[in-house]
Amino acid sequence: MSGLDETILTNAREGFRLQYGEYPEFVVRAPGRVNIIGEHTDYNEGYVLPMALPYSTVIAASPISGNMVTVFSEGFGPAQFVLTDDPAETSGWSRYIHGMGSMIQTRGFQVLGWKGFIYSDIPSGANLSSSAALEIAAGVVFQQSSDIDISLMEIAALGRDVENNLMGVRSGIMDQLTCAFAESGAALLIDCRSLKMTPIELPKGASVVLMDTGTRRELSGTEYNKRRATCDQVASALGVQSLRDATIADLSSLDQIAEIGLRRAQHVLTENIRVLDAVNSMKQQRLGELGGFMNASHESLREDYNVSGPALDRIVEIAQSVSGCYGARMTGGGFAGSAVAIVDSGQVQQFCEQVSNLYRPPSEQPAETSPGLYPVEASAGVSII
Ligand code: GLA
Repeated sequence: MSGLDETILTNAREGFRLQYGEYPEFVVRAPGRVNIIGEHTDYNEGYVLPMALPYSTVIAASPISGNMVTVFSEGFGPAQFVLTDDPAETSGWSRYIHGMGSMIQTRGFQVLGWKGFIYSDIPSGANLSSSAALEIAAGVVFQQSSDIDISLMEIAALGRDVENNLMGVRSGIMDQLTCAFAESGAALLIDCRSLKMTPIELPKGASVVLMDTGTRRELSGTEYNKRRATCDQVASALGVQSLRDATIADLSSLDQIAEIGLRRAQHVLTENIRVLDAVNSMKQQRLGELGGFMNASHESLREDYNVSGPALDRIVEIAQSVSGCYGARMTGGGFAGSAVAIVDSGQVQQFCEQVSNLYRPPSEQPAETSPGLYPVEASAGVSII
């Protein structure tokens, strides 16, 4: 079972020392996430049930005078920007960091420069929230290095704003909240309207297995934003603020909405119910039932929301057929990347071996990196070390 890998803290610290000839003043670690159930519900003000992964992005940092930020990423190389410049002019991965600095500034905080070294073991493009982890880690680095009194909740909201306003992805707030507030050993039930978060202990005897198909896709593609626009259209046709306020019965009253809109809404409404049902199953230790909701979630995402993909469908179908698996589904935005399974703890090793042996990336969607199966423990949200 994979827990937190402490060596990445040492790697970040040592990387900082090699880069700058001294040790960092502090280190911030922010985890990626896997969503157990509740997909494409967050921007509809619905429910989600993610957990933080034992994989994280670590920034070792020290404040510097002036308003320049200098960072070196072990995976992506060097970057540098001036905080007063427009973050839209900063290209590549460091735009997330520049975006966080600028957003914090626009909230009236005085933000100062820092130098840092970044080390991450969250695969990017795998739908495991590597970008939210970078946003939250960077936000906390700004908070610490500038000694400002910005709350973690504000940092999470600004992370979502970076996605929405700077990166062009109209995502919800699930990833940032998980990365900021998750608790170890538990999934986090989030009501994405009230932002109330309730840790739900993972059931005994079951393990979460992350299944990375090795396929990759950028979320900034138009498909994600199209789904959101369709949901907004259905909500406004119903005269409600968001699909959170609609019921399945309401949908039958809509004759001016195309069938595709109804299917999208049908997914969101049924998925919200499945999240709450899944929470009950977890509390009652009814693992077969929990797995059934996950399987139904995948089917709904594939058939009604159309955000699965050939590789995700294949790995999920194989997982569901292997003994010891209670349920499996795609996780995150979809189209490519990762899926998640809940597996009997006594059969995890054999499950991983069997799925690995049976799974081949489909020819129409080749893998960009090796597929892999990883039993994962739920870790805690962002921390300062
Ligand atoms: C991405 C987004 C989240 C959420 C999921 C789908 O991870 O960042 O806000 O919408 O997709 O559930």
